[in-house]
Amino acid sequence: MSERAVVTAGTGGIGLETAKGLARHGFTVTVVGRDAERGTSAVTEIAAVATGAAPRFVAADLASLDQVRALAARLAAEGPLKVLVNNVGAMFTHRRSTVDGIESSFALNHLSPYLLTELLLDRLREAGPSRIVNVTSAAVKAARRTFDAVEPPGGYYGFHWYGRAKLAHLAYTLHLADRLRGTGVAVFAADPGGAATSMTDGTMTSPEIVSPPLRLLWPLVRRTFARATAGPASVAAAPSVFAATDASLEGRTGVLIGPGARRVPVFRGADDPRTVEKVLELSRRLAPLDDGHRARHA
Ligand SMILES: NC(=O)c1ccc[n+]([C@@H]2O[C@H](COP(=O)([O-])OP(=O)(O)OC[C@H]3O[C@@H](n4cnc5c(N)ncnc54)[C@H](OP(=O)(O)O)[C@@H]3O)[C@@H](O)[C@H]2O)c1
Repeated sequence: MSERAVVTAGTGGIGLETAKGLARHGFTVTVVGRDAERGTSAVTEIAAVATGAAPRFVAADLASLDQVRALAARLAAEGPLKVLVNNVGAMFTHRRSTVDGIESSFALNHLSPYLLTELLLDRLREAGPSRIVNVTSAAVKAARRTFDAVEPPGGYYGFHWYGRAKLAHLAYTLHLADRLRGTGVAVFAADPGGAATSMTDGTMTSPEIVSPPLRLLWPLVRRTFARATAGPASVAAAPSVFAATDASLEGRTGVLIGPGARRVPVFRGADDPRTVEKVLELSRRLAPLDDGHRARHA
């Protein structure tokens, strides 16, 4: 029987290419997304390259913490999980809130994958050696490192808030790698570099996503964004596929795989203990892991 892998936001963009990569390696892949039509067409594409059991689509809006809990309960009920790729992520031109009233970039890029991961840890341990891959971004470098609240002080600038949410998740990723040392569950971060996807097409042409000083340089910034996100999603998926499957990573954890599937140093702000502590505090408060929640959704 082939081993199970889950790719969130796996019905389009980099996630779909990641799912195809894992299916080529023989995994039985589950892709998660909101739209059933996109799900069906993704499954057809993945099945065409799969060398293991048939892939499938599971619908969930990962912007809803209740739906994340329900998804986790469903996936956990199916037994051991070998690979979890937390690929979901999004950038928004204008400030938005989720159904839970949480700012959307923080919810989708950090809280949702945090919660899904925590709720699936038992199943990942059972499948050990197993791997968690969290998709990050070079945008972490443009982030304000302040995590006293979900929203940083000052105005909304989608690119910076996105980078800050990715930084929160990278800090959590490194913390989790340490926490799970010796359990058989390895934790990696994967930076895809850039690709032309619905996320980049939908946001990176608006000067409003960057702070006012950067807007003064918008023609230059825009050209940089355009260059960085011109490539195909299949190339950008390589770091996630490598992190999930490559034998050279056996026995390793807490490693960042960058563009070209090369090991790269982790951005230094991400392992700052104060950042880790604040991110964990926020995550535990906003997405509690108490038994009540587990029981209600199990
Ligand atoms: N593209 C880049 O240049 C770039 C660079 C660095 C990092 N990244 C990161 O790479 C990852 C993938 O990015 P991408 O560019 O491939 O994004 P994308 O094209 O926007 O991803 C599309 C996928 O996300 C799913 N999705 C969107 N919102 C969702 C939600 N609320 N719940 C469940 N699924 C949802 C879509 O399915 P439905 O629409 O059916 O829900 C679809 O499967 C993200 O974490 C992103 O931050 C991307």
